[in-house]
Amino acid sequence: MKPTLCGVIGNPISHSRSPEIHHKFALENGIDLSYQKYLLEEDQLSSFIKHFFDEGGLGLNVTLPFKQQVVNEIDTLSASSKLCQSVNTLYLGKNGEIKGTTTDGEGLLLDLNRLNFSIHKKNILIIGAGGASVSVVYALLKSGTKIRVLNRTQKNALDLIQKMSPFGDISLFNSKEPVDFDGVVSTISLANNELFRLANAHLKEDCFIYDINYGERAEETLNHFRDHGIKKLSGGYGMLLGQAAKSFEIWHGILPKISYGKQP
Ligand code: ATR
Repeated sequence: MKPTLCGVIGNPISHSRSPEIHHKFALENGIDLSYQKYLLEEDQLSSFIKHFFDEGGLGLNVTLPFKQQVVNEIDTLSASSKLCQSVNTLYLGKNGEIKGTTTDGEGLLLDLNRLNFSIHKKNILIIGAGGASVSVVYALLKSGTKIRVLNRTQKNALDLIQKMSPFGDISLFNSKEPVDFDGVVSTISLANNELFRLANAHLKEDCFIYDINYGERAEETLNHFRDHGIKKLSGGYGMLLGQAAKSFEIWHGILPKISYGKQP
C-alpha cells in the first residue's frame, strides 16, 4: 500500500523542518507517511492544491508567504482562520470540500504552557503587527491576556488593534505609560534593537521573552534581552512543534506526544 501523503507548501521551502517533525510523529504512532516539501509560485497555488487532493493527498501545511493567499482557495474556513485571515493546515471535509484552519496560535499556547511562561490575566507586549502577529494576538486574547502592541509602523499596529479589540484588552504601547510587562512576544521578521530598547524600561524582573522565530533568526532578539538581564527566554521552535502536532491530530486523529529536546 502507498504511504499516506501530506506536505508543506511555501516559498522558500528548503529550510522547512516540517517533514522531519511529521515523519517522527508518524513513526512514533505507527503511520506510514510520506510528507513532502513543495516549492510553489503564487500563480500555482490554486491548481496545485486541487491536484494534490484530487490525487488522494491527505493534508497540506502552508507556510510563508502563502498563509494569507490560501484563504481564497478554501471552501470552508475555521472561525479562527477567517478572523486571522491565515491558514496553515488544509484537509478534506466529509463531502470532499477543502477545509482550512490555523494551528499557529494553539502551537504558541502549548509552548508557553510547557515553558511555564504564564499569560492568564498578564500584561503582554507584542512586538510586531504583520501577518504572523494576528494568530498570536488572537490566541493570547482568547486566553485572557492584556496586550500592548509595539511596531515600527504605528499605522499597522493600529490596524491590528482595531481588528482584534472585539476579542479582549488590546491597545497601543506608549513608552510614557507606567506599565510593566509579564511577558514579551516578538513576531517581527527582523530583530530591531531600537524597538527592543523601548521595551527595556517596562519589563518585570521575571518577565519572559518569546520570539516566534527560531534558530539563528531568534538569536538577536534573545541576546538583546539576555544582555538586559532577562532570564526567561525562548525561541519559537516549540511553537513549530506544537502547531505541527495539532495539524497531525487533524489529519490522523492522534495528538502526538512532543519531545522538545534541544532547540535548533
Ligand atoms: P507580513 O507580510 O507577515 O506582514 P513582514 O512584512 O515581514 O511580514 O512584517 C512582519 C512584521 O515585522 C511587521 O510588524 C514589520 O513591521 P512594519 O509593520 O513596520 O513593516 C516587522 N518588521 C519587518 N522588518 C523589520 C525591521 N527591520 N525592523 C522592525 N520591524 C520589522
